Amino acid sequence: MRVTMKVNGQETTAEIEPRLLLVHYLRESAGLTGTHWGCDTSNCGACTVWLDGAPVKSCTTLAAMADGHEVRTVEGLADPVTGDLDPVQQGFMEEHGLQCGFCTPGMMMTARALLDRNPDPDEDTIREAISGNLCRCTGYENIVRAIRWAATHQTVDSQEVSA
Ligand code: FES
Ligand code: FES
Repeated sequence: MRVTMKVNGQETTAEIEPRLLLVHYLRESAGLTGTHWGCDTSNCGACTVWLDGAPVKSCTTLAAMADGHEVRTVEGLADPVTGDLDPVQQGFMEEHGLQCGFCTPGMMMTARALLDRNPDPDEDTIREAISGNLCRCTGYENIVRAIRWAATHQTVDSQEVSA
């Protein structure tokens, strides 16, 4: 079957097998290897992307389900014009929110979605939001700090923009 979807604002089309998972479509057809493939059972969250603005696990979403829809991956977090990193990406850098980095793309997509609906989440809210994203390295402390950093700095950024 033929599928067409917008990925990070760009239309992509491919002939695929109906059983192809979205994570494989993104990595192999669209060439976007930032989305990681971990458990394949909807547990680890490494494969988290957005489908029409909401985070989904792309290892348990068929590419066919994204046909005609919009997908956003970690490659679409930075500003497409200036290349400036999203505050979430900056936060992970500033607060050392990663070690091996395997969980990081999915973690950042979940964090971005959280901050879009709640710009100032407390620690408990952050921990609940990322509960579907597993990290085997960090112990989560620095990930929570990274998301708090992003929350603080996106407020500063938007004040600067409106000033
Ligand atoms: S690879 Fe999708 S949740 Fe683990
Ligand atoms: S940094 Fe290694 S799994 Fe999270």
